[in-house]
Amino acid sequence: MSTRRPLIAGNWKMNGLRSDARALADEVGTLRKNKSHGAFDLLICPPFSVIETVGHVIDGTGVFLGAQDCHTAEKGAHTGDISAAMLKDAGCSHVILGHSERRTNHKETDELVEQKAVAAHSEGLIAIICVGETEAERENGKTLDVVTAQIKDSVPQGANADNTVIAYEPVWAIGTGKVATPNDVQNVHSDIRKNLAAKLGQEAADDIRILYGGSMKPENAKELLALPDVDGGLIGGAALKAEDFWAIAQSCPSL
Ligand code: PGA
Repeated sequence: MSTRRPLIAGNWKMNGLRSDARALADEVGTLRKNKSHGAFDLLICPPFSVIETVGHVIDGTGVFLGAQDCHTAEKGAHTGDISAAMLKDAGCSHVILGHSERRTNHKETDELVEQKAVAAHSEGLIAIICVGETEAERENGKTLDVVTAQIKDSVPQGANADNTVIAYEPVWAIGTGKVATPNDVQNVHSDIRKNLAAKLGQEAADDIRILYGGSMKPENAKELLALPDVDGGLIGGAALKAEDFWAIAQSCPSL
């Protein structure tokens, strides 16, 4: 049985002008640096415009820096896009890919997400690949079918615990205050691990971290993070308040 170090990742989405971003990053960095319980990795993923600013603020604190998307190509005529090489150059170690807001708003397919993950891996970035069912799919009993297909088609063959993290985010739970029950979360996570094993082998599947995301807050984090196949959280709204983000991180079980 592998010991997967929990990862608490903050997805700031399209929030943060420079002064707010600097203040929030400074609070998170200071907490990480000064407090003792640290059996988890802490990551913040700000918008592109403040990545470098945030990178300077958290430098030396142990907080990791990530982005929220990248293009499949290394460079070229892709107006408005950003490459994995650029993210790496700006100081990122991680990139969120295939978030449901991108799958919905930008029509991203599993195949595109897979290609983006390959691009991220080739630059040495850790890809956080997001999957999750919509409310209608859930009501029709399709959750496991949808997530199985997303894992099969969005996760590249070269994925392993060093370059990939999976985030299960039921779409209906994102930003809504609704949270999947611990039982449902554990079921989906263990199914994801089974599908990862089928695709990548048991060893990789045992070591890859699977995060839960969707209205995770200080009040519900402890119960979710204690589940055997939950290895951390991808946090949206609650990551915009350092105190809440930190309280969630503090809810990680000790290794
Ligand atoms: P939420 O967002 O925590 O605000 O629900 C999570 C996410 O979309 O990553």
